[in-house]
Amino acid sequence: MTGLFITLEGGDGSGKSTQAKLLTDWLEEQGHTVLRSREPGGTDLGVEIREIVLHHRGDIAPRAEALLYAADRAHHISTKVRPALERGDIVVQDRYLDSSVAYQGAGRVLGGDEVRELSLWAAEGLLPDVTILLDLDETAARSRLNAANKRFDRLEAEKGEFHAKVRASFLDLAAAEPERFIVVDATAKPEVIAAEIRERVAPLLADRA
Ligand code: TYD
Repeated sequence: MTGLFITLEGGDGSGKSTQAKLLTDWLEEQGHTVLRSREPGGTDLGVEIREIVLHHRGDIAPRAEALLYAADRAHHISTKVRPALERGDIVVQDRYLDSSVAYQGAGRVLGGDEVRELSLWAAEGLLPDVTILLDLDETAARSRLNAANKRFDRLEAEKGEFHAKVRASFLDLAAAEPERFIVVDATAKPEVIAAEIRERVAPLLADRA
C-alpha cells in the first residue's frame, strides 16, 4: 500500500500549523499512522538550513534562496517523507513545492515554471495527493502576525506587495490544478476550517480502505 501525501499551503499567518495539528489529531483518532512535518526544517539538516534561509543577516541572492529551500526539500523528502509513504503512512506537511513557486517564483520573480522544475528535481518528482490552500488576504495576514508579537523572519518582513504576489500565485496554482487543491477561506474560525478540511479529506481515506 502506498501512503497519502497531504500538504498545507498559504501565506504567513494563514493558520497552517494549527490546521496541520488538528488534521493530524483527527487522522490519528481514526487509527491512521501520521507523519506531521514541515518545510523548511523537517530534518536535522533542514533545521540548520531553515536558520540560514530565515535568519541570515545579510542578503541572500534569490537563486541562492531557491536552492536553499530546494536542498532542504531534497533531504526531507528522501529521508523522511518517501520512507513514510512507502510504509503506507499519511504525511501531513506544512508547506511544500507550491510555497517555492509562490515565494521564490512569484515573490522573488524567478519564474514559477523554473522554480517548480527545480523543486521537482529536488524531490524526484513527488507531488502531493492533495493540497489544502488556506487563503487569506495580506492585510488580514499582517494584522495576525502583528498581534502574535514575534520578530519577523526574512520572508515575513517583506512588503505587502510581495505578499500580495505570493497570495495571487497560490490562487493561480489552485486554479490550474483544481483536482489537487482544496481552497479554504482562512478568515473562518479554526474549528470551522478544520471541519471543512475533514469533510474534504474523508473521501480520500475511504478510497484507501
Ligand atoms: P513557515 O515555517 O511556514 O513560517 P512560520 O514558522 O514562521 O509560520 O515558513 C517559513 C517561511 O519560509 C515562510 O515565510 C515561507 C517561506 N518559504 C519559502 O519562501 N519557500 C519555500 O519553499 C518554503 C517551504 C517556505
